[in-house]
Amino acid sequence: MRTHLCGSINETLEGQTVTLCGWVARARDLGGLIFIGLRDHAGILQVVVEPDNAPAFAVAEKLRNEYCVRITGTVRLRPESQWNADMKSGKVELLADSVTLLNASAPLPLLMTDEDGEEVRLKYRYLDIRRERMQRNLRLRSRLNGAIRRYLDGHDFVETETPILTRATPEGARDYLVPSRVHHGSFFALPQSPQIFKQLLMMGGLDRYYQIARCFRDEDLRADRQPEFTQLDIEMSFIDENDLQAIAEGLIRNVFREVLDVDLPGPFPRMSYAEAMRRYGSDKPDLRIPLELVTICDQVRQVDFKVFAEPANDPACRVAALRVPGGASLSRKQIDGYTELVAKYGAKGLAWMKVNDLAAGIDGVQSPVAKFLTPEAVAGILEVTGAETGDILFFGAGLKPVVAAFLGALRLQVGRDFDLVEAGWRPLWVVDFPMFEYDADDQRYYALHHPFTAPTVADPEALRADPANALSRGYDMVLNGSEIGGGSIRIHDPKLQQAVFELLGIDETEARARFGFLLEALRYGCPPHGGIAFGIDRVVALMAGEDSIREVIAFPKTTTAGCPLTGAPAAVDQAQLDELSLAIKAASKA
Ligand code: AMO
Ligand code: AMP
Repeated sequence: MRTHLCGSINETLEGQTVTLCGWVARARDLGGLIFIGLRDHAGILQVVVEPDNAPAFAVAEKLRNEYCVRITGTVRLRPESQWNADMKSGKVELLADSVTLLNASAPLPLLMTDEDGEEVRLKYRYLDIRRERMQRNLRLRSRLNGAIRRYLDGHDFVETETPILTRATPEGARDYLVPSRVHHGSFFALPQSPQIFKQLLMMGGLDRYYQIARCFRDEDLRADRQPEFTQLDIEMSFIDENDLQAIAEGLIRNVFREVLDVDLPGPFPRMSYAEAMRRYGSDKPDLRIPLELVTICDQVRQVDFKVFAEPANDPACRVAALRVPGGASLSRKQIDGYTELVAKYGAKGLAWMKVNDLAAGIDGVQSPVAKFLTPEAVAGILEVTGAETGDILFFGAGLKPVVAAFLGALRLQVGRDFDLVEAGWRPLWVVDFPMFEYDADDQRYYALHHPFTAPTVADPEALRADPANALSRGYDMVLNGSEIGGGSIRIHDPKLQQAVFELLGIDETEARARFGFLLEALRYGCPPHGGIAFGIDRVVALMAGEDSIREVIAFPKTTTAGCPLTGAPAAVDQAQLDELSLAIKAASKA
């Protein structure tokens, strides 16, 4: 139907006759001449229809936005004064010979610009996808998938599909359940990840596996979380963490080069979880922001100010400062804004100190807490933080994880507000995670990665003796403050696996019931193995410069886990429920 794409027409085609198909992006009647912006996925071309071409003109007069048309015409140069540098085809236009209407469009329910709200964009996603932004993002995603496959195929990985209708895998979220018609009262769970299957594939001798796999997690949604999302899932046998990380890093480096023509800095630095939490208040630090948290416990241990002195003397707690260069110019109102921000992360307050004259020590600072501090304490704080005249220091005091959470969030916010986010790409590996996290409310341990992650100690007794301080062989890949991948070396010893289940409060009976098949499989010569899974949606969002992964998914769910386009999830017929022997309780209908 067509000879060229709209976006491919340029001055080299001057004088040629071409046929294009696409949509009307705009139509203007300018004193007898009709100008049409004709759009396809490659770009927009200006088409001119002259009144002497009566048949073409008659069709063109009726065209409205998003009408689908076919136009044949001659490419001609536009006068230099009318060149449009924003368009790939901005130096040329098409003088129409014939205009064929392929299909009209109803009046549009949206503007088809960034002004459109997300609900309407998702409801009419097929129109939204016609836009340049979505075309760019979805094509970028496709190129990424291609580059991933080429790299892994070149490294002897076997692409293998694993079941969608399966049993619950413990990745820590709620499961999506699918009732079985055949097995009355039984349910499949959609996989939160292919974790157990990829381990079984290693036990099956596949050696190197990958899959671009859909995962399903019923959890609270955010900009970087969807109920169904896509992982690049990888598993390898007879490797240690260095082997795995070398492949994973090589992969990411390669796809960035191929897709974005970007050479990532290398080798990726490795940082322990403890160091990341201490210096950046996050296990996924954004290294583009040159601000760090500085511990000031030594400086405030003796002061007569309980808010600081108590946590400074408690090993579970911490007092830390965040220095913001030039921050002394902040108004009271702006500081109050930051205080509100940190409150959301559990801060009981946000003490601060403006450094108006560094040389004057305590007399040169302005701070609601200076009156509680000694000149020595202030001098010590100014020294360890490297404060300079014109800076502000923010202070966090309390339990270590709470201080990390709120000063870490503050660091990201002031980094953006003060325009401190450096350009470029800052990847890193975060390693040496704790094996378990103790939940004081539930009085039990949770796995920081998942229960199949190996601890650094191989002996089950050593693990049982001190679970609180056990480290895991897990690792995360972090890029510009986003956790793009996570994985671990796995447990391949059934006794160690049993010990981990026990520490997680899964007793032998429950372990047999839920993971009996895995424990059984571990008995038959399981190879040492490990792997990683990348969040493809997150990688594409970073590559595309989008804040939300919804912008890089063709048909995403809203933040309330619904689909405005199809209306899913939806009620089903009584007959279907009967067939499944399900009844809907009245209360949950509302
Ligand atoms: P994990 O749970 O860390 O590990 O997931 C791996 C990566 O998947 C991405 N991700 C998500 N992306 C979008 N929406 C979500 N709801 C979501 N949840 C996770 C993140 C994350 O780093 N089986 C293990 C991997 C392994 O051990 O090999 C797993 O699933 O980028
Ligand atoms: P208060 O004694 O609660 O009135 O607090 C005195 C000052 O310390 C105020 O500026 C509070 O914002 C600040 N502050 C209180 N709790 C904390 C905390 N946990 N971390 C940092 N600053 C705090």
